[in-house]
Amino acid sequence: MDAISPAAPAVKVPPAFFEQKVTWVHHWTDKLFSFRCTRDAAFRFVAGQFSMIGLMVEGKPLVRAYSIVSAPWEEELEFLSIKVQNGPLTSRLQHIQVGDSVLIGKKPVGTLLTENLLPGKTLYFFATGTGLAPFMSLIREPDVYEKYDRVVLQHTVREVAELAYRDFITKDLPAHEFLGEMVAPKLLYYPSVTREPFPVQLRSTALIETGRMTTDLGLPALNPETDRVMMCGSEAFNADMVPLLEARGFVEGNNSTPGSFVLEKAFVTK
Ligand code: A2P
Repeated sequence: MDAISPAAPAVKVPPAFFEQKVTWVHHWTDKLFSFRCTRDAAFRFVAGQFSMIGLMVEGKPLVRAYSIVSAPWEEELEFLSIKVQNGPLTSRLQHIQVGDSVLIGKKPVGTLLTENLLPGKTLYFFATGTGLAPFMSLIREPDVYEKYDRVVLQHTVREVAELAYRDFITKDLPAHEFLGEMVAPKLLYYPSVTREPFPVQLRSTALIETGRMTTDLGLPALNPETDRVMMCGSEAFNADMVPLLEARGFVEGNNSTPGSFVLEKAFVTK
């Protein structure tokens, strides 16, 4: 008869989290990866929100805020993460494999919501690095295309390989069987790479200051009467973007008062 091995001590997941299984992992670079996990039927979120995500480590939850990449209508949950070799969470999370358990906080929140913006014609998304994540959800949200005539996704990264989801945005999404018809005529993608040769090699701040992006896209200069802006990136990026927008007459919105721009920082830096 086979020996029965003693059961591993059960790790008790705190009630604030769903324990979900990893279904897919993709490494973009040695500093950037994405993963998907199962989604509890009770987990509801709005495009643009984030939740606390992580792992049980030594019997305790080790979690950080992560914006949700997937759209609310999708079956699984997807996240985009940096890898920091000595980062408490990402040094571990970067090694997750299909079948591993991850923690998903039950209460998604956030300010990058269409309802926090006043009605407008063109919606601009400005992201640096993993700040792209909430916009990946929003560009798959039909509500966005119902509310706006045009959606511009501007992503700035240091290296070309960090332009995560580039093929999805430029090829798969416009050809998507249900969303393609809605997305293709309205979504404009404008990537920029600052530390390698690339057609556009400017920071988002410079793109606004010089008017280069709107000129390249054949659009009028940023205008608070017609345009709405969402941004998500490093603290320094947000801090530099806000005065540029405010100088052009944009007013920040939040969960109680809609405005002409909203922002969130790209949370995980370790
Ligand atoms: P740069 O290469 O000129 O620093 P990071 O990884 O440091 O968050 O940077 C991601 C992207 O955001 C890079 O292209 C970087 O440009 C750009 N960036 C960093 N800080 C700012 C800022 N304060 N304003 C605008 N863009 C920024």
